[in-house]
Amino acid sequence: MIYDDYIALQKLLDCNKPRAGVKYALEESFFIRIHHIHEINFAQILLDLKSFDAKLITSTLQQKIDQLHRILACWKLNINTLKLLEFLDKEAFLGFRPSLMGISGMQSSQYLLWVELFYKTADRYNHQAINHPGILSIFQSIHASHNDWLVAHEEVILHFIQNDHGTGDTEGLRYMHEQRNHYDTLWNEILTGLNKVI
Ligand code: HEM
Repeated sequence: MIYDDYIALQKLLDCNKPRAGVKYALEESFFIRIHHIHEINFAQILLDLKSFDAKLITSTLQQKIDQLHRILACWKLNINTLKLLEFLDKEAFLGFRPSLMGISGMQSSQYLLWVELFYKTADRYNHQAINHPGILSIFQSIHASHNDWLVAHEEVILHFIQNDHGTGDTEGLRYMHEQRNHYDTLWNEILTGLNKVI
C-alpha cells in the first residue's frame, strides 16, 4: 500500500463538490474545504471527548490532561481554519450564496453533538475525576476557545453578510450572539453546580 491509498486521498478530495457553476467553482470549493477541515477537527474532538469519558476511571490524571489538551488544540486549529475565510472572495461568495439557501453550518450534526456532549452532559462534571482543579481548568480553556471561535465566526458574518438573515433562516448575527450567551450560561451553570471558582 502507498501513502495516497493509506489515507484514501482520492476519496477525500472527491468530497469537494461545488454546486453553483463554473463561474464560482474555485471560491466555492475553497469555502467547502474550510468546512471540511472543521468537520475533520470536530470528528477528532468528539472521538477524544467520548474516549475521555469512557476511560474516566481507568486513565491516569496525566492521560486525562493530555487528552483534553488535544481537544483544546483542535479548537485552536478551528479558530485558525476560520481565518482562512479572510482569503475568500466576498463578491464570489455573494454570487454562490443563493445556491446555499436552506443549507447552514447550524445543521452540522457533529457540532450539535459537541454542544450536547460538552455542555449538556452536566452529570459527568460531578464525577470526582473531572471535579479536579487541573482538569476543570482545561475544560474552562476549551469553553473559552469555543467562545473565541464563535467571536471569530461573528466577525465572518459581519464581513460577508452584515445584518442579513442566515441561509438557515435565523437573524444571523443576532442569533449567533444569543447562542454565545447561551453557551456561557450553560458553562456557568456547570461551575455553579460544582460551586467552584477557577
Ligand atoms: C462566509 C462564511 C460563513 C458565513 C457567512 C456564515 C454564516 C452563518 C450564519 C448567519 C449562521 C446562523 C444560522 C443561519 O441562519 O444560517 C451560522 C451558523 C453556524 N455556522 Fe456559519 N458561516 C460561515 C462559515 C462557517 C464555517 C466555515 C463553519 C464551520 C463549520 C460554520 C459553522 C457554523 C455553525 C456550527 C453554526 C451554528 C453555531 C451555533 O448555533 O452555535 N460557519 N453561520
